[in-house]
Amino acid sequence: MDAAELGKSRFLNLLFRIAGKTMESRLRGWLMPPEKTLLGAGLKSGQSVLEVGSGTGFFTIPAARIIGESGHLIALEPLSDFADKIEMKVRQAGYENVKVIKRDALSTKIEAASVDVVLLLGVVPFPTLPLKRLLPEMHRVLKSDGTLAVWLFPTTAGVPTAILRSGLFTDQKKMNGVYSYTPSAPGNNEQYPRKLALPGSF
Ligand SMILES: C[S@@+](CC[C@H](N)C(=O)[O-])C[C@H]1O[C@@H](n2cnc3c(N)ncnc32)[C@H](O)[C@@H]1O
Repeated sequence: MDAAELGKSRFLNLLFRIAGKTMESRLRGWLMPPEKTLLGAGLKSGQSVLEVGSGTGFFTIPAARIIGESGHLIALEPLSDFADKIEMKVRQAGYENVKVIKRDALSTKIEAASVDVVLLLGVVPFPTLPLKRLLPEMHRVLKSDGTLAVWLFPTTAGVPTAILRSGLFTDQKKMNGVYSYTPSAPGNNEQYPRKLALPGSF
């Protein structure tokens, strides 16, 4: 199932509506303060940010606060229920620096080299976000000195290695549980996916 179908699926929207309760629970906020994770991702005032798979907006509003009025955040979320929920939160919070887009992260249609930070927080690996297709698109939209910031569920240990093995990103560091990568110089990605030897599930 691709992201367009995912967005329209009544079953998945219902399923995620239930999961959404966990995604924005107080316990999660207490165990994993979003601001701490976002600082680990290197978020700063004035940045241009792409958040992939924003879900219920657990990170969206805190991120909008950190980047401030001079920054800009695109919240990319294909599921209609989630996208509507984020829209509502953004409106209630009165933020004008956030744009919610119902779109597939594998084909964002966002201008090349226009983003300072891509946030992949709790979204990979996911069947509709295969790294083999997601990483080239994230590399394309990131500025050359931008950051790919990745937070993973504890069971997804192979992902950091897979990202480095793609040849598209380098300089991995980890802060507050978030892995940060710098895009490799143009040219490296021409080897993609020949150089890429990701396990099937990625
Ligand atoms: C586990 S949720 C995480 C939500 C949020 N980042 C959080 O941590 O609360 C994964 C999200 O990725 C979204 N997603 C799945 N496939 C996608 C795709 N191809 N493009 C963009 N988002 C996608 C899902 O709709 C869902 O909201």
